[in-house]
Amino acid sequence: MSRIIPEFEALRAQAEGCFACRLAHTRTNVVFGVGSVEAELMFVGEAPGQNEDLQGEPFVGAAGQLLTRLLGEIGLRRDEVYIANVLKCRPPGNRDPRPEEIDACKGYLREQIRMIHPRVVVTLGNFATKLLLKTEVGITRLRGQPHRWWLGATLIPTFHPAAALRGGPKVVDAMRQDFALVRQVLDQPAGPPGTQHEEHPGPVAGDAQQMELFG
Ligand code: URA
Repeated sequence: MSRIIPEFEALRAQAEGCFACRLAHTRTNVVFGVGSVEAELMFVGEAPGQNEDLQGEPFVGAAGQLLTRLLGEIGLRRDEVYIANVLKCRPPGNRDPRPEEIDACKGYLREQIRMIHPRVVVTLGNFATKLLLKTEVGITRLRGQPHRWWLGATLIPTFHPAAALRGGPKVVDAMRQDFALVRQVLDQPAGPPGTQHEEHPGPVAGDAQQMELFG
């Protein structure tokens, strides 16, 4: 058993009993995350939708099916990666997350990333990208550019799969290119601790190493 599992399960239990924001009163389930705690690749989406709220698992609806398909195209299954969201509870009617909800919830995501310690973090859409890169720049400009990030990880922003479903084949193809970049980064040998993947297949867009993540 991985030595982080007890700590990770304690965090899950804490999230499952969380009443730090108003979403606790409207959720069916807390959607903590799914996958391997030893994953080298972690995805961060926005917030659970209706299906996710009902099933307690992220990305199980139509957007999730696209995510699973794109993952398969780079030779990975869902149980080999970790999938989480910025918010662990569904905003009613799928409205946008509110700043106070993100503030109340972001500590769970930070701890998930710290414990899993993935080599690559993929942010899906604007909310995750803006939070994790501390930027106001939109996803259309940022997607597909690797950032050297916290804990030596490489962060790669891409479109949200729901946006790709709305946007059609061109947006899906852009995501496919970004997933190919993820594959390239994962295929590079991992360096010794502290020097993880200093080499990138493409330009490193910005050095987002931060003392205080999610500020
Ligand atoms: N959209 C998200 O951002 N996350 C989910 O889990 C489902 C849809």
